[in-house]
Amino acid sequence: MRLDRFIARQTEQSQQTARLLITTGRVQVDDQVVRDAQQAVDRFATVRLDDRLLQQHTPLHFMLHKPHGYLSATCDPLHPTVMELLAEPLRQQLHLAGRLDRSTTGLLILTNDGLWSRRLTEPGQRIPKVYLVGTAEPIAAHAAECFAQGIHLAREGVDTSPAQLQLLGPCQARLTIHEGRHHQVKRMFHAVGNRVTSLHRESMGIIELDPTLHPGQYRALTPREIACVPVAGSRLV
Ligand code: URA
Repeated sequence: MRLDRFIARQTEQSQQTARLLITTGRVQVDDQVVRDAQQAVDRFATVRLDDRLLQQHTPLHFMLHKPHGYLSATCDPLHPTVMELLAEPLRQQLHLAGRLDRSTTGLLILTNDGLWSRRLTEPGQRIPKVYLVGTAEPIAAHAAECFAQGIHLAREGVDTSPAQLQLLGPCQARLTIHEGRHHQVKRMFHAVGNRVTSLHRESMGIIELDPTLHPGQYRALTPREIACVPVAGSRLV
């Protein structure tokens, strides 16, 4: 909705009065003075008129243990989606901060905070994402070196940034990547002549999948987990 209409409705004033309130700097959206009466405002914005709170956005952040077979999507005619695992009011409010393939299990983050989720998932932030990987063939000796140097992704025309591979067994490894490109882990293993048979995300930055969560369960993030997403200009370690 346009800001002038929103203010008019909330204050029961005319749109002309609302525009005057806006252009004279009395309206704040998300703690910033906004003088553009045409600016769009959605239900996720916190809006103030002087000191009066007209609408409050309560940020919500959750981690979900994604089970195998669920799509990272809001709805799908064929497959169950992760949204169906959430309580009804949350389904309408949350979006996914990064996706996992249908067959992938593990850590999935959901939030209603668009800025926060963008920062968590932007490749430029280089947030480490750790995966347990099972493969069809024994992992080649040169794979760790190839991943450390970067794998060329032809579709995007980019090289993956250096990734760390820790061998856990002939067909099992822990891989840390710093972007989240489409099917990235599967494509990296394909590039070294192998095939991923199981994939489980253990962590994103300092946010680790809570071991007490069974597949399909979720919990709110702690303030420390929320705060680990970098503010503009800084990096998450
Ligand atoms: N890489 C993949 O290939 N799939 C996922 O689900 C996540 C990362």
